Amino acid sequence: MSNPIITIAIDGYSSSGKSTMAKVLAKKIGYRYIDSGAMYRAVTLYAMRNGMVSTDHVVDCNALRAALPNIKIDFNVCEDGQHTMLNNEDVEKEIRQLDVSNNVSQVAVIPAIRHALVAMQQAFGIEKGIVMDGRDIGTTVFPNAELKIFVNASAETRAMRRHKELLEKGQQTTYEEVLANVMTRDHIDETREESPLRCAEDAIVLDNSTMTINEQDAWLIDRFNETIAKHK
Ligand code: CDP
Repeated sequence: MSNPIITIAIDGYSSSGKSTMAKVLAKKIGYRYIDSGAMYRAVTLYAMRNGMVSTDHVVDCNALRAALPNIKIDFNVCEDGQHTMLNNEDVEKEIRQLDVSNNVSQVAVIPAIRHALVAMQQAFGIEKGIVMDGRDIGTTVFPNAELKIFVNASAETRAMRRHKELLEKGQQTTYEEVLANVMTRDHIDETREESPLRCAEDAIVLDNSTMTINEQDAWLIDRFNETIAKHK
């Protein structure tokens, strides 16, 4: 009997390593990977470029909502992985910069933006066979996902990982700046009204503070195999 095709939701805190594990799993099992955070980041970049975000991170919600029909987001599969496209422009590098990180949670609280992006995310997953990571995938986007994971690690561990990643990409930031960003986003993500960051009741929780990447990848493939066996 062939394996059932399922939906996999990986949620968790900022910089918890969920994208890394989601990508590796998707590749291993031949599923499509979607980074829902990249979609919020692309909308944020659009808002910043179009003068809709002030220097103290206040977003012009009405202008951004009105601009929604002009924002097209897609993903291109490239040799070095998936690249986020904003109106056919490759913005993969730009959306990962700290200035976008400093505005993205303020954009992600806007209900109209969430509704539009959640609808796009659900369309990506209509045929299952998808691994999606984010904050509300198991609770709002795919509440019926067969496998739900919620990843966490201490804020200091997460900031250290993200700081190292940014330095490797040539972005000059301090650990303190990154820690402040991680903590601010955690707070905004957890306390917003619309689909806040929350562990779904039926999610499996993983604290990967002391795990290596190989260990977390192996842990995830075990959970996948268990889920497949259960649904056969
Ligand atoms: O920095 P990190 O990789 O952890 O974050 P991300 O996955 O790129 O997401 C960036 C931001 O988008 C988060 O801090 C949330 O504010 C927002 N987001 C969200 O609200 N819902 C999602 N499903 C994914 C991201």
